[in-house]
Amino acid sequence: MQEQLRRIQEEAAAQLAAITDKSGLDALKLKLLGKKGDLTLLRRSMGQLPAEERPKAGQMINEVVVAITAQIEEMDAKLKKIEQEKKLAREAIDVTEPRAHTPIGGVHPIALVQDQMLKVFTSMGFDVVEGPEVELDLYNFELMNIPKNHPARDAQDTFYIDENIVLRTHTSPVQARTMLTRKPPIRIVCPGRVYRADEVDATHSPVFHQMEGLVIDKDVTMADLKGTLDAFARTLFGDDMTTRFRPSFFPFTEPSAEVDLTCVNCHGKGCRVCKGTGWIEVLGAGMVNPKVLEMCGIDSKEYSGFAFGVGLERIAMLRYGITDMRALFEGDVRFLSQFRDD
Ligand code: DAH
Repeated sequence: MQEQLRRIQEEAAAQLAAITDKSGLDALKLKLLGKKGDLTLLRRSMGQLPAEERPKAGQMINEVVVAITAQIEEMDAKLKKIEQEKKLAREAIDVTEPRAHTPIGGVHPIALVQDQMLKVFTSMGFDVVEGPEVELDLYNFELMNIPKNHPARDAQDTFYIDENIVLRTHTSPVQARTMLTRKPPIRIVCPGRVYRADEVDATHSPVFHQMEGLVIDKDVTMADLKGTLDAFARTLFGDDMTTRFRPSFFPFTEPSAEVDLTCVNCHGKGCRVCKGTGWIEVLGAGMVNPKVLEMCGIDSKEYSGFAFGVGLERIAMLRYGITDMRALFEGDVRFLSQFRDD
């Protein structure tokens, strides 16, 4: 019996040393300690021993079982550790490895100039207000003092939804909406899309963008308008920029002006872009017509105001030297990816 135990223990030690994986270890465990394992059978054969020898034999077998179980567990832990290390090596990530280039999106030039302009005006204390693109005739025309027979109302120029509803032809209706809902002082800019029944060409599009400005307060003068627009011109185009007002006509302003900007190409010297004049026309502006103030519920004896409307496509084209407006709408990534937020 003792001899048998010793042999089992020796063999187990040799086999254990040769084991390289978990399945080998499981097989050995079964062979020694399983239901028909060497030690189990040996324990069962104890019945054949004389009764007085049994306790001693039982104790000896137990000691071997405990020792072998401990060895198997130790081996099991060792195998697990090796496996774990292999796994870590397999799944290691080289964080210094250069990665594939990820293309970064640009910002559309219209969005860029809109953001830049909003920054200029909000820094001067203007609020940003938006209005609907599908607009009532009332706001788009009537309250802007554009009479029934005005050519701008012609179906050839305006997209009509029905008799009373249009796609707004300018951002000016947001002026009326604001005056009717806010009390002066009012200082707002209103960016947004506008629509006109124009054919697409290098300078026209049926959809384009404007930004409206409106200031209403006591004692607002044309000098305030000029100062505001000069600040805008300098911030967007450089410190040597200025504006020039030429008399004009808009139904919603009186007096009205076409506003020119120092030519951004030649800085006033005269070139092909400005046709030798040193100036380029960029926007319309004026003092809010007292008739408009009254229609929108503001006392024109107490308050005065100025307004302006700028085309964003025109500003973007001047700012980035774009000569064909269609580039702004075609979505060609090779063109668009040149623009970055600055
Ligand atoms: N609404 C005019 C247009 O679309 C632009 C404009 C001119 C707006 C003069 C104004 C302004 O507020 O005072 O052509």
